[in-house]
Amino acid sequence: MKPIYFSLLCVLFYLLLFPSGLCFADINRQTGTLCSESDNSLNEDDGFLVNLRTTMDSLSDNVINRHGFYKTRVGSKKSNTVYGSVLCRGDISADNCSNCVLNSIKAASDDCPKSRDVSVWFRWCFLRYANQSFFGTMEETSVAVTNDTDFDEAKVVSEGLEFMGGVAESASEKSIMFETGVLDVNNVTKRYGMAQCTRDIRKEDCRRCLQAQLQNFRTGIGNKRRWEIYGVNCFMWYNDYRFYNNASILLSGAKRQSPWKRYTIGIWVGVLAMLQMVM
Ligand SMILES: *[C@@H]1O[C@H](CO)[C@@H](O)[C@H](O)[C@H]1NC(C)=O
Ligand SMILES: *[C@@H]1O[C@H](CO)[C@@H](O)[C@H](O)[C@H]1NC(C)=O
Ligand SMILES: *[C@@H]1O[C@H](CO)[C@@H](O)[C@H](O)[C@H]1NC(C)=O
Ligand SMILES: *[C@@H]1O[C@H](CO)[C@@H](O)[C@H](O)[C@H]1NC(C)=O
Repeated sequence: MKPIYFSLLCVLFYLLLFPSGLCFADINRQTGTLCSESDNSLNEDDGFLVNLRTTMDSLSDNVINRHGFYKTRVGSKKSNTVYGSVLCRGDISADNCSNCVLNSIKAASDDCPKSRDVSVWFRWCFLRYANQSFFGTMEETSVAVTNDTDFDEAKVVSEGLEFMGGVAESASEKSIMFETGVLDVNNVTKRYGMAQCTRDIRKEDCRRCLQAQLQNFRTGIGNKRRWEIYGVNCFMWYNDYRFYNNASILLSGAKRQSPWKRYTIGIWVGVLAMLQMVM
């Protein structure tokens, strides 16, 4: 697996590989990491690291009983407070969710040991922590992953994005903020879609987040048969086989959480990057 470095944004994204033969296995793998600039003042004497460990323990302890999405804040002083959240993909089992969260916590400490603002994407879960609150604040930062030459049939291309627009709309209307859908083209060809938002944002923000992804990446993904988009508040997947399970029992009883804070403190560079994918 070959890493690509975007030094400007300190983004490190792995190419997403679906090795041939494994095309029908929905396997978990790390798809990217975003670390803020290394901060050498971050050391063992810094209360931040102590609070970070407590935050990570709390995320992994609570993500299942909070139906796959949990956010928390640890710390008494502004300078060492940690804000953390974790989201599992809506169709994965509780065990796979727990494992994915533990893996993402390990990946964060391996890949970004000196950063105070870290995002880790796996196919099955998303972890973020920062030294300032990002709860309830929608950000459009996203990366799309696709195979440059894997063009779809013309009759599907004309319907694909509109279909995904519908899946997005429907995800934003649901309290679990998760939706799957099937596109049936002339009873012969099918495409499968899935969309999800973090449950701390408002439904209008979920809709805007997903629509912005479709809009911003339309030229890259519009004519492809498979793609995935990873953001910090919303996510979409599109493929030519049923890569997802039915909504997990993990989600039953899940409700959208009200944002703790509406205002933004630190805004990430809202740059959208397009990545090519090897399939
Ligand atoms: C968060 O950490 C960065 C350095 O990594 C620092 O510049 C910033 O002031 C910190 N924010 C708060 C609220 O402490
Ligand atoms: C979860 O993990 C088990 C094996 O540990 C696997 O059989 C199952 O299909 C996985 N998939 C999902 C999406 O939960
Ligand atoms: C991309 O897709 C094309 C068409 O399906 C395939 O032939 C090619 O091997 C893929 N590229 C890579 C780098 O996997
Ligand atoms: C998934 O849902 C469909 C329709 O709701 C149902 O027919 C099917 O049996 C379900 N599959 C599993 C594995 O639960």
